[in-house]
Amino acid sequence: MKKQSHNYVLITGGSKGIGSALAQQFAQRNNNLILVARSKKELAITAEKLITTYDITVKIFACDLSLATAVSSLVSFLKKENCTVTTLINNAGFGNLSAFAAADTTKLIEMIHVNITALTQLTRELLPAMLQKKQGHIVNIASTAAFLPGPYMAVYFATKAYVLSLGEALAVELENTGVSITTICPGPTETNFSKRASNKNISFFENAMSVDAVATQAYKAISKRKGTFIPGLKNKPIALLSKLIPRNILAKIVGSIQRT
Ligand SMILES: NC(=O)c1ccc[n+]([C@@H]2O[C@H](COP(=O)([O-])OP(=O)(O)OC[C@H]3O[C@@H](n4cnc5c(N)ncnc54)[C@H](OP(=O)(O)O)[C@@H]3O)[C@@H](O)[C@H]2O)c1
Repeated sequence: MKKQSHNYVLITGGSKGIGSALAQQFAQRNNNLILVARSKKELAITAEKLITTYDITVKIFACDLSLATAVSSLVSFLKKENCTVTTLINNAGFGNLSAFAAADTTKLIEMIHVNITALTQLTRELLPAMLQKKQGHIVNIASTAAFLPGPYMAVYFATKAYVLSLGEALAVELENTGVSITTICPGPTETNFSKRASNKNISFFENAMSVDAVATQAYKAISKRKGTFIPGLKNKPIALLSKLIPRNILAKIVGSIQRT
C-alpha cells in the first residue's frame, strides 16, 4: 500500500547521476520523492524503477532550471499537488570545459542560472515553511571545485564556491531553528557530468569515484546533518590544501591539469 504522507524529498537533477543515486538512498528508507530534471522521459524511467521496488510515491516535474520561470512553476506544482518538502536537495548542475574567452556565452549564463540562481530561489521559496514547522533540511550539492579557482572551467568553479559560501553562511542563520543545511562537495564522480562538460577526456576524471559510493557517503552525512561534507578519502585533503597553498599557485596547478 502507498504511503499517504504529504511529506516529500525534492531532488533537482534527480533523473540520473548523483541525484538519481541519492533518490535511491532516500527511497530505500521509504521517503516519498519529487524528482526534477529537463527530460520527462528519463524522469519517468527513474521514477518507474523506484515505484516498482519501493512502497513510496514518486512525482516527477520536467522543467529547465536555467529558465527564469522554472522555480515558480515548480513551486506552483508543489502547491497544486499538496506536497510538503521536508528535504530539499539542490543537485542539478553542469560544467563546461573551455577557455573563458572562447566559451559559449549562453552556456555560461545558463550554468549560472542552474547552479546558482535556481538553487538560491528554490531554497528561499521553501525555507519559510520549514522554519514555521521548525523542521527541514536543505542539501546543496557543491563540489571540491568550490575550494579552488578553476582555470578553463572558471565559471563552474566559481558557481560552486558560491554554493559552499551560501551553505556556510545559512548554517549560522539556521542555528537552533530545527532546520539544517548540508553542503556536499563531491570530487570527480562517474556520471554524465564530464561528457556534458567536454567532448574530450578530462584528466581529473581518470580515477573518478562511483556514483553509488558518493551517494552512500553523502546520505550518511545528510542523515547526521553535517554542515559541509566531502565524499571520498582522497578528496578530503583538498579543503585543507586550499587553505595552505596560495590561491595563485592553486590556480596554476588546476589550470595546468585542465588546459585542453
Ligand atoms: N560528476 C562529478 O564529477 C561531480 C563532481 C562534483 C560535483 N558534481 C555536481 O553534482 C551535481 C549532479 O551532477 P552529476 O554528476 O550527477 O551530473 P549528471 O549525471 O549530468 O546529472 C545532472 C542532473 O541534473 C539535471 N539537469 C541538468 N541541467 C538541468 C537543467 N537545466 N534543468 C533541470 N535539470 C537539469 C539532469 O537531467 P536533464 O539533463 O534531463 O536535465 C540530471 O538529472 C551537479 O551539481 C554537479 O555540479 C558532480
